[in-house]
Amino acid sequence: MPKPLLAALFAAFALTAAVAAPAGAGERQPARLQGAALLHQPEQMSFGVYYYPEQWPQEQWQRDFDGMAKLGFEFTHMAEFSWTYLEPKEGQYDFGWLDHAIALAHAAGLRVVLGTPSAAVPSWMGQRYPQVYRVDEHGQRHEHGIRAEVSLTDPTYKAFVAKIVTAMAARYGHDPRVWGWQIDNEPSAFPDFSDSARKAFQDWLRKKYGSIDAMNTAWAGSFWSTRYDSFDEVLLPNTTLAAEDKLSPHAVLDLARFRADTQAQFLDAQAEIIHQYAGKRQWVTTDYTNVSTDTDPRRARALDFPTFTLYPVAGTNALGGDSYAIGKPANLMEAAAYFRPINGTFGVMELQPGQVNWASINPQPMPGAIRMWMWHAFASGASLLATYRYRHPLRGSEMYHEGIVGTDGVTPSRTGREYINTMRDIKALAARLDPNAKLPARLAARYTGYLWSQDVFWDLEIQPQTTLWHSWAYRNGYTLAVQTTGAPMDFISEQDDFSRYPFLIAPAYQMVSPALAAKWKRYVEQGGHLILTSRTGQKNALGHFPEGPWYATILDLIGADVDGFDMLPPSADGEVKADGKTWAWHRWADILTPRPGTEVLATYADHYYAGKAAATTRKLGKGSVTMIGVSTDDGELERALVRSVYQRAGVAIEDLPTGVFHDWRGGYDFMVSYNPKPFAFPLPSGAQAVQGQTPLAPAGVLVWKEKDAAGQP
Ligand code: GAL
Repeated sequence: MPKPLLAALFAAFALTAAVAAPAGAGERQPARLQGAALLHQPEQMSFGVYYYPEQWPQEQWQRDFDGMAKLGFEFTHMAEFSWTYLEPKEGQYDFGWLDHAIALAHAAGLRVVLGTPSAAVPSWMGQRYPQVYRVDEHGQRHEHGIRAEVSLTDPTYKAFVAKIVTAMAARYGHDPRVWGWQIDNEPSAFPDFSDSARKAFQDWLRKKYGSIDAMNTAWAGSFWSTRYDSFDEVLLPNTTLAAEDKLSPHAVLDLARFRADTQAQFLDAQAEIIHQYAGKRQWVTTDYTNVSTDTDPRRARALDFPTFTLYPVAGTNALGGDSYAIGKPANLMEAAAYFRPINGTFGVMELQPGQVNWASINPQPMPGAIRMWMWHAFASGASLLATYRYRHPLRGSEMYHEGIVGTDGVTPSRTGREYINTMRDIKALAARLDPNAKLPARLAARYTGYLWSQDVFWDLEIQPQTTLWHSWAYRNGYTLAVQTTGAPMDFISEQDDFSRYPFLIAPAYQMVSPALAAKWKRYVEQGGHLILTSRTGQKNALGHFPEGPWYATILDLIGADVDGFDMLPPSADGEVKADGKTWAWHRWADILTPRPGTEVLATYADHYYAGKAAATTRKLGKGSVTMIGVSTDDGELERALVRSVYQRAGVAIEDLPTGVFHDWRGGYDFMVSYNPKPFAFPLPSGAQAVQGQTPLAPAGVLVWKEKDAAGQP
C-alpha cells in the first residue's frame, strides 16, 4: 500500500516547523474505519471493471470475465442493480446466478466486488408498498421504472434493504473470492416530503434541540409568526413552494443536515450488517459522486474507506478551447483532496471509459484524456480504480454509453484501448514506487489545508444574496489558485489538526464560532499562514449574525474592521486595484478598514468606498493572516494574492497554468494537464522523465524522478 500522503506530510513538516498540535485532532476518525489495512492488495492500485451478468446471456459470461482478465483488470464489480433477480418475489431469494458468476469471475482470475442492490428496487415492492418511494416537492409519489427514488426514512424500505443485505452478507461475507463491498449507488439525499420523512425530521429536531423553544430561537420563530408550539407541528421546509430566502434559512439548513444524516445512517446500517458477517475479511465502501453537494461523506461512520465516481467529459468547457474534451479540471483534483484525508485511503470506483449518454451534450473524450485521468488518479494516491463498464449496452437507457469493449462484446473501443494501454504503463511504474518514500521537503513546505464544511456550503447556498454567487464554483476558483503553486492540498474540517499544514485557506467559511477563531489564532501564532476570504466569519456557528460589528468574530484575527459588503448587478462596474493593475468585480466585496500594523494588498477604485481596502495581510506571532474580501470576475487577483502568501512566507512555489496539477507518490513526481494549451514545464536539473514529455500537451502526462537533495525526507 502507498504510504498515506498525510502521514508522509506529517513526518516531513514536523522537521521544518514546530507547531503544537491543537486539541481535537483525530477526533473525527470513526472507530470502524480500517482503510488500507483491509484492502490487503498486492498492487499499489488495483484496476477493476463493472459487469452486469444479468444484462447478458449466461453463455457469454465466461468469455467476458476471461476478456477482462486478459486485458489486465484485477477485479470485477457485480450485483449493484440486480435486486429483481436476487429477490424475484418478496422473501424468495435467488443467489444461484450470482454464485455462478462469482465462480466464473474467480476462475478467470478476477477478485469480486459486490454491490448491494438498494438503489434499484423490484417492481413487486412498489406495487405492494408504494410508501417505499419518495414524495417530491410537489407531493408526487415516485414510482417504478428508474433507480433510486426511494424514501430513506420509510421503515418498510429500510427493512427490505436490511433483509437482502443480511442474506447477501450471510452468503458471501466469508467467501474468499469476494474482496469487498460497495453499498448502494452514488448515494444522494434526495428531497423527500413523505410522512415518514416528516416524522423522522421531527425526531431529528427533538434530539438536536431538546425543547421547542430552543428550536424556535435557532430558527428565528419570532419572525413572521413562524414559531411552532411542539415538534409534532413542524413541517419539512419546502423550498419549491416557498422561495428559499423567504423560509427560515436556519430551518432549511437543518433540513439539509437531517437529509445528510439520514443518508449516512442508511449507508452505515448496511455497512454494519456486512461487517457482522465479513469481519475484517472484506472491506466496505460506497461510490460517492465526486461532487458531493447534498450528502456529507464525513457523516458516515461505518465505511472502511470512501470511493467516488468520475465522469470528467460531460459537455462543459471549463477552460475554453478544446478543454470540453479533456474534462472539468477541478473534479478529480478536488475529490482526491477531499476523500483522501478522511482516513488516508480512497479509490475511484467509476471512471468514464469513453463517451457517456446522460449529459446535455455528450462529446468524445480527446485522445489522451482517459490516459491522463488514470495517471491523475494514480498520482493522487488512489488505491483502486474501476471503470464503468466492461461492455457497451445494446439496449436500455444507457445504450449510448461506451464500455471498454464495443457493441460486439469483445473488441476494445478506441477509448477502451487507451484505457488498457494506460493500465499496463501505470502497473509498470507502480512496481517501481517506493512505498516508504517520504514526501519531499520541497513539497511539504507548501502543503495546504483547505477548510471545508458541508454545513457552511449549504448555508451559503441558502442565502447567496446575488445570482452571481455560486458556492461550488467559488471553491473551484480557490482550489485551482492553490494548485498553480504546485502545493499538495487536503480538504480538512474544523476538528482536524491544522498544525499539519504550513498554509491554511478558509474561503467563504461563513459560520465561525469563537472556538474556531481561537484555534485559527493559535495556529497562526505558532507559525501557520492563514488565508480567509469574502464572507468568512460573517455568521456564527448557528448561522446567525453575532450581536456586534460585522464579522465580529474574526476582526482581531484579520487586524481590520469590516464596514459592510457590496455586490453589483451585471450592468454596473466595480474595480479593484492592486500592484498597479485593475480587476473587475461584481460578485462580492467586503469593505475593509485596516487596523494599525495591517498591510493593504488591494483597494476598491470606485463607488462610495473608493480607497477602502479589498484585501489585507498582517503578521501575527510566527505566522500571518491574509483576508481577501473581494471576489473578482475572473479570479485572477485572488490567484495572485493567494500566491503572494507563500512568497511572503519565503516558501518556493511553482507557476503552473490553471488545470495543470503537480502530484507526488512513492518517490515520483507527476504532472497532468487539463489545460487546452501546451505548457513548457522546465524539468528540474538532474530529473529524469519516465513517462511523457515537456512541453506538456493538452491532456498530457509527465512523470519524473527528482534527485531530492541528500538527506531530504
Ligand atoms: C454513474 C452511475 C452509474 C452509471 C454511470 C453512467 O453516475 O453511478 O451507475 O449510470 O453514471 O455514466
